[in-house]
Amino acid sequence: MGPGAPSEVWRYRAELLKGPKNTVSENPDSYLGPTIRLRRGQTVKIHIHNELPEDTTVHWHGLHVPSDVDGQPRLPIRPGETMTVGFEVLDRAGLFWYHSHAHGKQGGRVGFQSYAGLAGLLIVEDEEEADLKLPSGDNELLLVLQDRTFAGNNELVYMGRGMGSMMDRMHGFLGDRVLANGAPPTTRKVATRPYRIRVLNGSNARIYKLAWSDGRPVTVIGADGGLLQEPEDRPYAVLAPAQRLDIWVDLSEFQPGDTLELISDRFRAGMMSGGMMDGMGMMGSNALPLGSRFPLARLEVSKSLKASEPLPAQLGVQRQKIPVNSNTRIRSFELSPVMMRGFAMNGRRFDGTNVADDEKVRLGDTEIWEFHNSTPMPHPMHIHGLQFNVVGRRGGNSDSLQQGLVDSGWHDTVLVMPRETVQVAMKFERFDGLYIYHCHNMEHEDAGMMRYFQVQS
Ligand code: C2O
Ligand code: CU
Ligand code: CU
Repeated sequence: MGPGAPSEVWRYRAELLKGPKNTVSENPDSYLGPTIRLRRGQTVKIHIHNELPEDTTVHWHGLHVPSDVDGQPRLPIRPGETMTVGFEVLDRAGLFWYHSHAHGKQGGRVGFQSYAGLAGLLIVEDEEEADLKLPSGDNELLLVLQDRTFAGNNELVYMGRGMGSMMDRMHGFLGDRVLANGAPPTTRKVATRPYRIRVLNGSNARIYKLAWSDGRPVTVIGADGGLLQEPEDRPYAVLAPAQRLDIWVDLSEFQPGDTLELISDRFRAGMMSGGMMDGMGMMGSNALPLGSRFPLARLEVSKSLKASEPLPAQLGVQRQKIPVNSNTRIRSFELSPVMMRGFAMNGRRFDGTNVADDEKVRLGDTEIWEFHNSTPMPHPMHIHGLQFNVVGRRGGNSDSLQQGLVDSGWHDTVLVMPRETVQVAMKFERFDGLYIYHCHNMEHEDAGMMRYFQVQS
């Protein structure tokens, strides 16, 4: 971070026992876990050894894996223990990630453990994507966005005390500075050519409004579950906690010395717009409120090249959308506040592996899940073990980031704005057993906005 003694962090360290050398690349200059590169169709085996003073798990966010290797809180790795998980990589190419999913008797530890450093990128590659010859190697930038608060000698500070802490829990932790790949945003020397920028929002609760400093549109080519069918130009692109976006930018018109900044632009935070939070002045307590403007990465053109590679007009050829019609079953979830205790889904909060009757689905079925947000805050809703399509939204406030919500393609996390209803379609394939759905605002999740659901064969 800044000068001075480094913070104490919790880290993932990896050792590759077998397989291609580029499977694991360490991020030595930050607390981030190593970046893992896998190929579709590959079988992996991972030994996870816990040297932390408390239980943990490793969840493969977004991957279609069996329930018992999903890193769920019901299967904690105790201090000093080792767990071995194995799975086949079934997902198409995309940017995924892994993080802690521990939940103890006193509540969730996801927010704390991820904040302390237990998160990293996981990239899946495949032939289909490779054939498109998108910018790669030095021309592919990976960006993990996280906000952190430091005190004194670079000491990482998580939740405040007393009233501040209650507020943190209510709206989710917001740090007073934003880090990119575990360090303050930096300048990157680039050439006059196209770049692929793959961004993960690894923050506990912060929502980003990705935009270019010169106002050019943001060309989105992929989301959580890989490439979109075709590129989409947006004035800005919204990235909620746990979501990923794949962005393409062509710098071939630039001159050496020119710069371009990727920023998070200003927006009106919907969570203040009504209801129980009004008048409490909670936004004032943070140095970097939700919706502030700040830089994420600076590109400085230092080399002029002749060639430019055009962006293919068609990107995702392989995976068809999930077919839905008027007979598709709709399961509704109402997101509502619970006085002083966070948020509930259909009136329920986390209750271990207990599953209600309306949280049981059939293997092989296609369903639409409908999230209705009756709280004054946005909630990034995440479903484990699959990728879904967004069917539609209604009821949202049109000034609240709507033009930047990327709903096409495949997702595992969808942002549901205040008073909005969002429908997503999914198919329960291949694996039965227990999975989880929850809000990926980590403080909401830890406070119980999380439930198991069961896929029955
Ligand atoms: Cu990032 Cu339950 O997951
Ligand atoms: Cu997940
Ligand atoms: Cu939430």
